[in-house]
Amino acid sequence: MIDFVSLSGSSQLIERIGTKIKELDRVSGGGLVPGSVILVGGDPGIGKSTLLLQTCASISNIESKPECYYISGEEALDQVRIRAKRLGLEQSPVNLASATDVRDIVATLEKTNAKVVVIDSIQTMYLEEAESTPGSVSQVRACAYELIKLAKKKGFVLFLVGHVTKQGSIAGPRVLEHMVDTVLYFEGERGHQFRILRAVKNRYGATDEIGVFEMQDKGLVEVENPSALFLAERQGNISGSCVFAGIEGSRPVLVEIQALVSPTGYASPKRAVVGWDSGRLSMVLAVLEARGGLNLSSQDVYLNIAGGLKISEPAADLAVAMAIISSLTNHPLPADMVIFGEIGLSGEIRAVSQPNLRLKEAHKLGFKSAIVPAQYKKDKKLSSSNISLHEIGNVQKLINWFN
Ligand SMILES: Nc1ncnc2c1ncn2[C@@H]1O[C@H](COP(=O)(O)OP(=O)(O)OP(=O)(O)O)[C@@H](O)[C@H]1O
Ligand SMILES: [Mg+2]
Repeated sequence: MIDFVSLSGSSQLIERIGTKIKELDRVSGGGLVPGSVILVGGDPGIGKSTLLLQTCASISNIESKPECYYISGEEALDQVRIRAKRLGLEQSPVNLASATDVRDIVATLEKTNAKVVVIDSIQTMYLEEAESTPGSVSQVRACAYELIKLAKKKGFVLFLVGHVTKQGSIAGPRVLEHMVDTVLYFEGERGHQFRILRAVKNRYGATDEIGVFEMQDKGLVEVENPSALFLAERQGNISGSCVFAGIEGSRPVLVEIQALVSPTGYASPKRAVVGWDSGRLSMVLAVLEARGGLNLSSQDVYLNIAGGLKISEPAADLAVAMAIISSLTNHPLPADMVIFGEIGLSGEIRAVSQPNLRLKEAHKLGFKSAIVPAQYKKDKKLSSSNISLHEIGNVQKLINWFN
């Protein structure tokens, strides 16, 4: 028999564990929830082990000295120690082990007062009862089940590292996403130093929140001002480039959008996109053609979000359109201008969320003007901001703006 209860009732407010790593706390929704399970996915070599070793070390040093356990199934003890030394963490009271037998791990952890446990990685773990090779879907699922059960029972935070790309090319961790409370992806572009930690599922906080880090030889360093980082290599006065005032999670991020439009040498023109949705680019191009009268069918179009950030906001439409028109007409945009707004299929430019926050960030970074949707004309608070606004209602007006 089960006992049903009412929705109201006494339940203690969950006390989160602050990691002292602000970017991680932000992404996790304000600290780690005891008894919760966090899957950390990401491409090989992106820095998952580094992040979690730093996290363990940081937590083990907070005042109450919670017990932290780092279990590596992937690397030998010496490898982890070498990393710890390089990161300057070798004095932190983290309990380190190299193990892969889940029965053994569970039996050992059972006797501890663990507050945080890292399993690096779940693919290397095995359970004798599950008769398949480590890393197979049934092994991954069975091992995760045992570890999660223990985490809930003992109330420790469990981090599971999973090798998986966002496309989920490996079957295992996709299965895991349903079993855990939080899924974090650690992403970054090869050749770029910065790394983005993104929450794609979170039972204890908002998703789409990001944390930004820079990978240095001393480990991952938090980036307090991502906009400055993303704009660092921008060169002013070049056609095809503009600055989009975006929002990632709860925070504004300015990024440079670059477009290159050039006459095609192919039967069907090329469209290539890095960092944005290619379907969305096709839509913007179609609207510029159909509603703005531009001829883009004989042009190759390349679009790049500089710095390697991936943007998913429709608010970037207007900035993308501006970059394309600027490249097509060879007209550079003012270097101190930001842009945001969504484009609809009939060519109208629509308002987007949090214009205030976007303009405030732009002002903070020294921008002077902005191209924004026409609806903001009525908004007194916005028009009295420190940025001079150019309100634009549709793509035709946008194209005229260049003349
Ligand atoms: N000596 C070093 N100086 C600077 N950066 C380094 C150094 N050694 C490693 N790195 C960085 O750390 C990254 C590897 O980090 P880490 O081992 O934490 O990644 P991972 O995601 O755990 O990889 P894996 O998928 O192999 O487990 C390298 O790609 C590199 O960027
Ligand atoms: Mg690793």
